[in-house]
Amino acid sequence: MRILGVDTSCDDTSAAVTDDLTILSSVVLSQTELHEGFGGVVPEEASRAHFSRIDGVVRKALSDAGTTIDELDLIVATRGPGLLGSLLVGYNYARGLALAASIPFYGANHLFGHVYSAFLGGAGEELPSLSLIISGGHTAIGIVTREADGVRHDFRGGTLDDAVGELIDKTGRHCGLPWPAGPHVDNLALAGNKKAVRFTRPLRGRAGYDFSFSGLKSAFLRARTEEQAEDGDLFASLMDCVADCLVERIRDLADETGIRRVLFSGGVAASGFLREHCGRKLLSAGIKSTFPQRAFCTDNAAMICACGYLEAPGRTWVDSAADLEADAFASFF
Ligand code: KG4
Ligand code: ZN
Repeated sequence: MRILGVDTSCDDTSAAVTDDLTILSSVVLSQTELHEGFGGVVPEEASRAHFSRIDGVVRKALSDAGTTIDELDLIVATRGPGLLGSLLVGYNYARGLALAASIPFYGANHLFGHVYSAFLGGAGEELPSLSLIISGGHTAIGIVTREADGVRHDFRGGTLDDAVGELIDKTGRHCGLPWPAGPHVDNLALAGNKKAVRFTRPLRGRAGYDFSFSGLKSAFLRARTEEQAEDGDLFASLMDCVADCLVERIRDLADETGIRRVLFSGGVAASGFLREHCGRKLLSAGIKSTFPQRAFCTDNAAMICACGYLEAPGRTWVDSAADLEADAFASFF
């Protein structure tokens, strides 16, 4: 099935073409240069940039894949969650294209797209699996199963306050790192001493599957003024604490369900530190970790194609006007 995917949920304008789960092209036009001076995404700037770039990005994805609109079997666009102004640009562009060319259209949940990014490029769809999304806006753990009518997500817990990406970006900003701080924090953490500062593990031993990272952010800022530690050592200690929190929840859910594999996804899953430390700790508990290729951890449209491939065939095509609206607060799992 030849699929065109479009994602404009936040600050990257993305389009991709896949053949089932094989990527034929993937174009991600970053807006980092527009927002970095503000230390975060400015929604109005983001939607204006999507508006002027979407047509060129989709055309490039089609030409890189050596395909034309007539050859597409399905068009998929992110319906939500995300910034409403940004979503409306890509979603309506793709919907208009599908209606004009009489091609089936599917509205995708951006977060489910992140989960499926692990299946791109021939990694195989091992389901059921546990799922952990760690992105700039979300931290969520759940179970992914294959049912007769498509793939199903069972949400088991999420952060009560900051997402892991938010913790990283906010502490990085405090230390004067460029936005988004993730890759810089990761490099510092990989070179640092994770035993330099012992941060209390938030919610350790507490029943359930919630996370909390805002107290850890305050503890980091306090340690930076009170301890004689280099930033690299502080970040290594912080990321080690994050890894422990994530591993504890995954281990508990694996014990409860008997499912001993987990799909990591979201921008923070690109972290070399977390890949190494979470992967090793989970392996010693008999749990297999799968990480998407680094380029497909952060926002992209190939993962939106994967949503169409895995979800759409078992479902009726969206055909009522109400089902065709973008949804900034699309429900999760
Ligand atoms: O999934 P994503 O691209 O956007 C959202 O949907 O939120 O995730 C962005 C987040 C940011 O917080 C960014 O700092 C973080 O992913 N990030 C990383 C790395 N690359 C991006 N965090 C740690 N290590 C990285 N290499
Ligand atoms: Zn995302």
